[in-house]
Amino acid sequence: MSNQNTLTNPDKDLFDSIQSDFHITKKKIYLNNGSISPLPISSIKSMTDFCLRYSEAGPDSIEFNSYLDSLKIEVRKRIADLVHCREDEIIFTQSTTEGINMIANGLNWRKKDKLLIRHSINEHFSNYLPWIKSAENSDLVIEFFPKIDISCTGSALIEEFEKIYDKQSFKMVSTSHVMYNNGSITPVEFLGKAIKESDDTFYSIDGAQSVGAIDLDIQKINCDFMTFPSFKWLCGPLGLGILFVKKKIMNELNPIFVGSGSAEVSKIPRRKRIGSNDDFKSIGDIVFFKYPDRYHATFRNFPALAGLEASLRYILRIGVNNIQSRIKYLSSILREEILKSTEIIIHEAEEEKYRSSLLSFSFKRKNNSKVQKLNTMLQEQGIILAEREIGERKILRASPHFYNSENEIQKASEAIKSLIKNLE
Ligand SMILES: Cc1ncc(COP(=O)(O)O)c(C=O)c1O
Repeated sequence: MSNQNTLTNPDKDLFDSIQSDFHITKKKIYLNNGSISPLPISSIKSMTDFCLRYSEAGPDSIEFNSYLDSLKIEVRKRIADLVHCREDEIIFTQSTTEGINMIANGLNWRKKDKLLIRHSINEHFSNYLPWIKSAENSDLVIEFFPKIDISCTGSALIEEFEKIYDKQSFKMVSTSHVMYNNGSITPVEFLGKAIKESDDTFYSIDGAQSVGAIDLDIQKINCDFMTFPSFKWLCGPLGLGILFVKKKIMNELNPIFVGSGSAEVSKIPRRKRIGSNDDFKSIGDIVFFKYPDRYHATFRNFPALAGLEASLRYILRIGVNNIQSRIKYLSSILREEILKSTEIIIHEAEEEKYRSSLLSFSFKRKNNSKVQKLNTMLQEQGIILAEREIGERKILRASPHFYNSENEIQKASEAIKSLIKNLE
């Protein structure tokens, strides 16, 4: 294989020590990191320390607040290192989904503005439904790509995109970087170049399946927005996500929540109609605070920041380029092994360079109940994959992370092959 990595075999000691940092490896073969990854022990300790300190120092005290401020700065620095953005381009959210909703509901749409989003056959609903809803609410026009060969990838996807994009002007283009179901990598840098020839189109990337798994650079993608969670490829805690917003356009994103931590009422009261037609009250305008508080009306998940900070340190120490090679290597072993079964079909990009480490498969003769049965039987053996879908077809998705071992992959492949033989 061309992109087997230099770390995989030579650095056996490193990866052996990594295994002991993830206790799950003692109990399960967990190949569902594209859904939620387990935490390394250092992140669990970090959150425990946070809670102890918080409860001992006084959660809302000058002492603790100054520690919290420094923690937020640390997380910003590490995220900026990871994706190559500025520290003041980072907004804390709960998840990818929340970030996308903040964009879709926070921009000043004009009626009939056009949105170009990925076809639902491969797009995750979290980067689909928020755009559909905004289109309904604000009377926008939605186009989908690709349009003709709806599940095409790579070069064919570029061709389809160009055909649609060159003919019309769009206010927003959005796509997942790595598609959750067939694992194909969207040529986001290519799209970014085409889109940013004009300043009028926003470009939003769902990085849920790429940040931490692919060595990406926001500057090269040239997107205005990117959303991703802490709890997939970054091995951080649940309930925490990141929304990147390019500094240049930050003023165009209105906060969708408001509260005492994010805004105040202007000192100059105005007579405003409240409630019934005759009911006038003197109140001032809402004035939002500056970045980042204006976006953090609801964000309180501070213990998770402590966990994410530790996870980021962990990930950055190994290096995302090494992680990317390692997981591609592991998934290529699995791919080769399960393809030995003549019943299996792999769902992936046609061209190798557009394939990520997500490995999805089903039966050549579509059989959804067989996929479900196989998943249940694997889980009973402690081998955890994810059941997903491509349109009407159920698929199984394996998403190994860097802490998984070759041995685990071999065992999982053997189990898949032998279970398939006995499945009706
Ligand atoms: C491509 C993609 N987008 C969005 C999501 C939703 O992510 P979150 O749980 O962070 O909202 C997922 C989850 O699997 C995903 O794969």
